[in-house]
Amino acid sequence: MTTKIKYSLLALCLGAIVAQAHPIIPTPQSVTLGKGYFVATKQPATEAMAVVTEKNHGEEYYRLVITPQKITCYAASEAGVFYAKQSLLQLSDSLGRIPCMTIVDEPRFAWRGLMLDVSRHFFGKEVVMQQLDMLARLKMNRYHLHLTDETGWRIEIKQYPALTGVGAEGNWSDRKAPRAFYTQDDIREIVEYARERHIQVIPEIDMPGHATTVYRAYPEFSTGGTGRWAGFTFYPAAETTYTFLRNVLTEVAALFPAPYIHIGGDEVHFGNQVWKTDPQIQQFIRDNQLGDEVGLEHYFVRRACEIVADLGKTVIGWDEIIESGVPADNMLVMWWRHDKPQILDKALKEGFRVILSPRIPCYFDFVQDDSHKIGRRWGGAFNTLEVAYRFPESIQARLTGHESQILGIQANIWTERIADKKRLDFMTFPRLAIIAEDAWSPAERKNEADFKERLPYFLKYLDTQHIEYFNPFNPAATPEPWGPEKADATANG
Ligand code: ACM
Repeated sequence: MTTKIKYSLLALCLGAIVAQAHPIIPTPQSVTLGKGYFVATKQPATEAMAVVTEKNHGEEYYRLVITPQKITCYAASEAGVFYAKQSLLQLSDSLGRIPCMTIVDEPRFAWRGLMLDVSRHFFGKEVVMQQLDMLARLKMNRYHLHLTDETGWRIEIKQYPALTGVGAEGNWSDRKAPRAFYTQDDIREIVEYARERHIQVIPEIDMPGHATTVYRAYPEFSTGGTGRWAGFTFYPAAETTYTFLRNVLTEVAALFPAPYIHIGGDEVHFGNQVWKTDPQIQQFIRDNQLGDEVGLEHYFVRRACEIVADLGKTVIGWDEIIESGVPADNMLVMWWRHDKPQILDKALKEGFRVILSPRIPCYFDFVQDDSHKIGRRWGGAFNTLEVAYRFPESIQARLTGHESQILGIQANIWTERIADKKRLDFMTFPRLAIIAEDAWSPAERKNEADFKERLPYFLKYLDTQHIEYFNPFNPAATPEPWGPEKADATANG
């Protein structure tokens, strides 16, 4: 064997060793391998870990030094210690052995989120808590609950009980399904469970559109479109509507310690046809010199922002709200319309802080494999694991120069076609692990081949948790679970 071939073989073997050196997802900023193992005998490794406070680092930074004798975590705050523990948990094998190494790590983005739509189909707090466990394991830190929409109002508001009376009846696939919602005690429990895992829970009350449940419960605050869109919007031309909103948001603000309230703001044009003919609304537009229905929509968003600001919170909205005239400093924007990249450009140019959650690749209601039949596609495109992994580098040219405005990345699970936990998990995993790596790991550390080496460890962990997933290594082994056939494609653009 020539020396050259010997060295090539050695390099190949080393490559394999390095590639499998750690199974951690999301991959850390730097890993230096040591020799041997720490063996946790008397107690779990996470409890054996000594903690040293090391100031002058970001809140989420940690340095983990594993030697055969001890494990030491250096971190500036509890969040860093928590993330060091998540790495340890992923490193431990079934015998309690942890390979020696030094990890220096901190996230690429501050916002690493997941949204769950509990309006179209409701998922109880047990499902939510399991999602929070998985977010924690993947070092994600934001959980956005889409609590209200056309189908069901899912949060108890003491002052307006009909919201979770008639407003919480039915779901997307069964209009007669019994009422389902979170009580205020449930919300407190969820928020606390998340807090223990360094996750903020962000409530969304969608307005002025996607508010059909209000029409069912309190028609006096409601108007909208025609036919399928009847009651789609709040009634924008009466002070009583804004009082109602203030009362609702006051209860919401008190329940969620996160400094944000999401007010939706998307797709109002689907169902505001009545605005064009209602004489009082037209008079309101004239009196307030709003120009037209779009001006009225922006007025509504400004009023909602004022209420949220009065409650001491910052508004988040879907990307439509950048047109509303609210100053860029006063709100965070979720860019979702991947087919409108000019909206992202505009938001960044105007100084908005942006969370990247474009349909492709961040919507988990899109199918992930061409063989899957239920779920969304956009002009034939869908969200493969590869497309998700190449994000946000795939849009880097748009982000360059605006890095400080990009707060992070969020995956969104819309549930028109997800009616049970089995399908929910299948659509979520393993893509959540990919979005976690997109949001945490530095671009230069991301490597698709290496990720594919680590992913099987994560899939095995999902097995231990009885969590369903799509297996990209063997699609036939994980057939697509059932989902409702008849979602209205326009209900969630
Ligand atoms: C959205 O998907 N309508 C934000």
